[in-house]
Amino acid sequence: MISASQALYEKAKRLIPGGTQLLSKRPEMFAPENWPAYYREAQGCEVIDLDGNRLLDMSIMGIGTCLLGYNDPDVSSAVIRRIKAGSMSSLNNPEEVELAEALLEIHPWAEQVRYSRTGGEAMAIAVRIARAKTRRSIVAFCGYHGWHDWYLAANLSSKDSGGQLQGHLLPGLEPNGVPDGLSGTALPFRYNHLDELEAIILQHPDQLAAVVMEPTRHDEPAPGFLEGVRKLCDQTQTVLVVDEITAGWRLHHGGAHLKYGLQPDIAVFGKALGNGHPIAAVIGKGKVMEAAQYSFISSSYWTEGVGPAAALATLNKLKSVDVPRHLTTISERLRAGLGDLAKRLGLNIRFSGHPAITILSFEDPQASALQTLFTIRMLEQGILAGSGFYASLAHREEHVERFLKASGKVLPEVARSAEIGDVLERIPNGVKHSGFSRLT
Ligand SMILES: Cc1ncc(COP(=O)(O)O)c(C=O)c1O
Repeated sequence: MISASQALYEKAKRLIPGGTQLLSKRPEMFAPENWPAYYREAQGCEVIDLDGNRLLDMSIMGIGTCLLGYNDPDVSSAVIRRIKAGSMSSLNNPEEVELAEALLEIHPWAEQVRYSRTGGEAMAIAVRIARAKTRRSIVAFCGYHGWHDWYLAANLSSKDSGGQLQGHLLPGLEPNGVPDGLSGTALPFRYNHLDELEAIILQHPDQLAAVVMEPTRHDEPAPGFLEGVRKLCDQTQTVLVVDEITAGWRLHHGGAHLKYGLQPDIAVFGKALGNGHPIAAVIGKGKVMEAAQYSFISSSYWTEGVGPAAALATLNKLKSVDVPRHLTTISERLRAGLGDLAKRLGLNIRFSGHPAITILSFEDPQASALQTLFTIRMLEQGILAGSGFYASLAHREEHVERFLKASGKVLPEVARSAEIGDVLERIPNGVKHSGFSRLT
């Protein structure tokens, strides 16, 4: 019998092009026709789907937004308070000033703050400010930074073979609809490849508005890499923008740039800042941020009150608990336990990235199919599990134990099917997608 969730998703695919609003939440990214598309309730690290199944979330935790866990009581109370007092009016909400002070206290290198509600939007603001400040157009970047034109423009010049974003976080993103005139304005370099950034600068002397990058995503910075980037930006008067949308607060309180002693000109936060409520912040040095006054950067819902109220409550909690340490402990326990299980079964599982942003992959020619089978069988055990694990403060030792116990039941079949080579027969609804592709 088709589940309520699957039935709704079938309807969604007719009504909503692409099915969902976020590629990473497409059920096809996990297990086509098996992964429950919708939830009714979310609490701590559990969700209840539309069919009433209670599922332990050992997957992407709202794609890294809910660092404290779903529906954190302190954050929810602050949000409800703001809603009851009215979250929108003709006047501005005072929390945005309080939040600016809180963010600047954590980041003494920065002097001013602007807000938006989503990460991609905030990155577009940061790039606009950098371009306005320098009166230059070209942006050198590495990694993924959202859906906006400034970024997808990188794929205009080489649409074949995954475009220029090949080798970055989300390769092959389609730039259809991005004006051809932006071609050549976003140029990628690879993380830890300072020579590639140097080559961009040599080819475009005095034309770089910004260097945009995460201080780290999966790899530790090579000795001298971040210092080298900073130096190149100083030499060329280029604005250094660090994207802390995913890494920020997860790896280090205030962001990974503080951990590595990197002083940017702008830092951008999103996702975990509101613990599930939309708020993003662009913070920066006064002499750079002031350019926001000379470019039109303005939007109605950047003034609502829920986002700042949520962020203040989140920051308050993050200040009192060592969340990065908790995430590492939980993720390392999971890695060790699952690694041992796999080893005993002769299954090659690889973990990569920082423990707090764990990536799990099967080392096998049929890796995606094995991953799909693992996800389907874990769902049968009441667990959401995919190719990554974003730990949260709500995850406790007992949740890891539950995950490992279920894996102990599921992995022998995965190992057997890897050995026999019959995995495709075990997943009749097909292999999970691994990137952007058309659904209908
Ligand atoms: C590093 C980074 N930058 C930007 C974004 C885009 O943020 P949003 O999905 O909120 O637009 C993401 C989202 O995954 C991200 O990981």
